[in-house]
Amino acid sequence: MRIIALINQKGGVGKTTSTVNIGCGLSRLGKKVLLIDLDPQAHLTYSIGIQAHEVKKTIYELLKGDGTIDEVIQVYGKMKVIPSTLDLSGAEIELSAVAGREMLLKESLKKIKNIDYILIDCPPNLGLLTLNALTTAREIFVCLQTEYLALQGIGKLMETVQVVQKRLNKKLAVSGIICTRYDRRKRLNKEVVEKIKGYFGDKVFNTLIRDNVALAEAPIQGQSIYDYSPKSYGAEDYMKLCKEIIKKG
Ligand SMILES: Nc1ncnc2c1ncn2[C@@H]1O[C@H](COP(=O)(O)OP(=O)(O)OP(=O)(O)O)[C@@H](O)[C@H]1O
Ligand SMILES: [Mg+2]
Repeated sequence: MRIIALINQKGGVGKTTSTVNIGCGLSRLGKKVLLIDLDPQAHLTYSIGIQAHEVKKTIYELLKGDGTIDEVIQVYGKMKVIPSTLDLSGAEIELSAVAGREMLLKESLKKIKNIDYILIDCPPNLGLLTLNALTTAREIFVCLQTEYLALQGIGKLMETVQVVQKRLNKKLAVSGIICTRYDRRKRLNKEVVEKIKGYFGDKVFNTLIRDNVALAEAPIQGQSIYDYSPKSYGAEDYMKLCKEIIKKG
C-alpha cells in the first residue's frame, strides 16, 4: 500500500485537483484507491459531488474518536473516500491538548485493508492536520504552480518534513513534485519548471499538468476530468502522470 500526502502550505496550487484526478486515474488503471479529505475547506469532498454539510460522519469524527473507519468511508465510483466538513476547522484547537495528537490519523487508519493507494489532500498550512498527514504517509507529493514565487515557502516545508522524519516518521520521503497549470507559451512557466528541476532534480515528474479550464469546471459537476471531459489536456496529463506514478513506485 502506498500512502501519499499531497502537500504545499501555499493555497491554490492544485493539491485538490491533483488528488481527485490522480485518484480517479489510478482507479481507472485498476488500482484500489482511498481518498482522504483532510482540509476543513472540504473542497475535495464537494469536488466529487458529496455535500459536505449533509454528511454525518466525516474525517472530523474519525480524528475525534466519534466515528469508526467503517462509518466514515463512502464509496465514489470504484474508489473509497473519507469526506471532510467545515467543522474540521476547529480541530486544530480542539485536538491540540489530546495525547498523541500528531498520530490520530495514523491510528485511525490502522484497520484499512485491501487498498493500493491512499491519497491525502492537505490544507494550505503546516498545522496539526498536515502534521497528521506527514506522520501517516510514506510519500509526499508537493504540488507547485509554475508561476512567479512557486518555490517561496518550500524551504520551510522541507524543514518541517525533516523534523517529522527525524522525530515521528523515519520512513517519510518526498517522492514526487507535480508541476501544475503549465502554459508552454509562457516563458516564465518554462523558467519556473527549470528552477523547480534545479531544486528537486529527478523528483520532478516528467508530466507537466497544463493549464486547462476543464480541470476547473469538472468539480462544479462533481466529476473527475475523465468523466467531465475525457479528451481534454487535463484528462491526458493526469492519466499520463498516473502511469508515471505507478512506474516510479
Ligand atoms: N491545471 C489547471 N488548469 C486550470 N485550472 C486549474 C488547474 N489546476 C487547478 N486549477 C484551478 O485552480 C484552483 C486551485 O486549485 P486547487 O483547489 O486544486 O488547489 P489547492 O492547492 O487544493 O488549493 P487550497 O490550498 O485552497 O486547498 C481551482 O479553482 C482549480 O479548479
Ligand atoms: Mg485544496
